[in-house]
Amino acid sequence: MKINLANIKKAKKLLNKSECIAIPTETVYGLAGNAYSDKACKRIYKLKKRPKNNPLIVHYFNDQILKKDCIFNDNFLKLYKKFCPGPITFILDLKKNSKISKVVTNKKNSLAVRFPKHPVARNLLKRLNFPLAAPSANLSSKISAVSSDHVKEDFGEKIKYILEGGKSSIGLESTIIDLRNKPRILRLGGLEVSIIKKVLNKRIVINNNPIKISSPGQFKLHYSPGIPIRLNVKKIKSDEAYLQIKKNKKNKKNYYFLSKNGNLNEAAKNLYSTLRQIKKDKFKSIAVGKIPNKGLGKTINDRLIRASKL
Ligand code: TXA
Ligand code: MG
Repeated sequence: MKINLANIKKAKKLLNKSECIAIPTETVYGLAGNAYSDKACKRIYKLKKRPKNNPLIVHYFNDQILKKDCIFNDNFLKLYKKFCPGPITFILDLKKNSKISKVVTNKKNSLAVRFPKHPVARNLLKRLNFPLAAPSANLSSKISAVSSDHVKEDFGEKIKYILEGGKSSIGLESTIIDLRNKPRILRLGGLEVSIIKKVLNKRIVINNNPIKISSPGQFKLHYSPGIPIRLNVKKIKSDEAYLQIKKNKKNKKNYYFLSKNGNLNEAAKNLYSTLRQIKKDKFKSIAVGKIPNKGLGKTINDRLIRASKL
């Protein structure tokens, strides 16, 4: 993707004034503001209608800059070297003298950090004197945005500026791993857990227990398109939209597919835009066919299960 410098400069100017703007990342679009500014961070919560106890992710250009704010450990260094920039978020201990706004962390002493790979996001981060707090650019509990149009759908004129970056290449949020003690996955995401496991060469707990929620992104009723979803459906009802992993030979008006031939990475990239499209086409419910529970299919199923608990 070609970088438009005028756009990046406009974004920088607004961010310097503690305004919020939308930025593209390779996972999903983010609603970004200066992570050192209380004012900017308060605006993010307000725009997203996000509960105050749900802390924000902070985006950095590289580990050198992060050093000022967080305490590193061996697991972090290993994963950073292998996967960053990329679709993984780390929970680390915050340094006492960090300048991160208390609004970001909800006064906790941990911080969620990520190094996005999208060239537009990287170019912007490199030019700023502060990291960017940026939760996904969607209304709280709804589906994330993977294009600037989706951001517009959710926020209209309320957002000062959307930095264009095309369609997000991964299309699912980052994988969150808590590295403060034994590595613990808090959210499945765009980087497969099996690949992370190989690098750490140890067991990783996947914290999917809804009773002991430590990352509110784990709440059920997240990622909802706002209409009922039924999963693993074999027989659809006549008025439902039918979402399948690959193209069906029968080409009916209510049939949607995530990938031409069932490729799970392509399916991940198309998941959120297809759910949004079904809603726009005015269907009142969605029946989803079986999606293989391997690779990114695990994250796709995780999101669909949460979305189905309406
Ligand atoms: O791919 C992504 O991660 C995207 C892009 C924009 O970077 N961001 C994203 O942000 O998905 P958000 O806010 O929608 O999801 C971040 C999750 C939330 O569920 C939040 O509860 C959790 O990270 N989180 C933030 N700080 C945390 C902390 N200190 N400990 C545990 N979970 C935390
Ligand atoms: Mg989100």
